[in-house]
Amino acid sequence: MIITNSIDDTRKQIAAARRAGKTIGFVPTMGALHEGHFSLIRAARQKCDFVVVSIFVNPTQFGPAEDLDKYPRTFSQDCQGCSLNGADMVFAPDSQVMYPDENLTWVNVENITDRLCGASRPGHFRGVTTVVTKLFNIVQPDIACFGQKDAQQVSVIETMVRQLNMPVTIIRCPIVREPDGLAMSSRNRYLEPAERQQALCLRLALDKAAELFAAGCTEAATLITAMENVIRQYPLARIDYIAIVDDQLLCPIEKIETQTLIALAVFIGKTRLIDNTTLTPPYGPYAHAGETCQWRQLR
Ligand code: PAJ
Repeated sequence: MIITNSIDDTRKQIAAARRAGKTIGFVPTMGALHEGHFSLIRAARQKCDFVVVSIFVNPTQFGPAEDLDKYPRTFSQDCQGCSLNGADMVFAPDSQVMYPDENLTWVNVENITDRLCGASRPGHFRGVTTVVTKLFNIVQPDIACFGQKDAQQVSVIETMVRQLNMPVTIIRCPIVREPDGLAMSSRNRYLEPAERQQALCLRLALDKAAELFAAGCTEAATLITAMENVIRQYPLARIDYIAIVDDQLLCPIEKIETQTLIALAVFIGKTRLIDNTTLTPPYGPYAHAGETCQWRQLR
């Protein structure tokens, strides 16, 4: 597996793969890789001949009070995992390479970035869309894989790609979970043992909503109250938001009539975790193709 740090070298390697007739798959990450990231690499591997993973903790998507400095960095393990899961190349630039001077050029998707995570993390999505555009310009992939774990992020990227006519196909990959149902996240490693236990409340709140929905409840307000009641039982948990929104524009809805996203963010101690599920009338909880559902069997 090739490891590059510079933009020139990355472009040269990818150009050579292209000259050899290979299609390019891309998985952007911030490192501290886990099975969720690896599932994206394997998805790219299945669809493309040459798979590029970027590892870059992007400063422009972190707010001033967020965890940029202490974001976990596990580079050599990450490279091992990339190689084992079929990546051909890791592009790991530093901030000087990605932002050599004061950044004056931004890519901003409006409106859908103001809600959910965007409301609690102003400027976050502007940082994401800007760095993803830069990475797309460097790698020029045929496809790029993103996780449904960050449902709003993938909707924002899909909107950006469609509206800016970027020549890349976005693949949305299912959420990968721990055996007990906690969505895998690089931030899970911040959790103390007691917090790790209570972090399950996100999944349990989503389960509660799905269960009520399957029993015929379609009122968003009722589902949100039921989810709040689940989370209130966990003293280390503090709700940032619970949102029931339409799957496309992420606007709050009152009644579930079409495919609907239920998303939440909860602080467990100091760590902010997110999770989501999609409900599709009249079928009840909708598992994105292949979503790891082991947690259902355990309960
Ligand atoms: P990061 O948090 O490292 O996530 C990289 C990709 O892995 C994202 O597409 C995310 O949705 C996916 N992912 C994370 N946990 C997952 C899980 N449990 N199951 C499935 N997919 C999962 O998201 C970012 O980095 C950054 O914002 C980035 C897009 C790289 C831009 O800096």
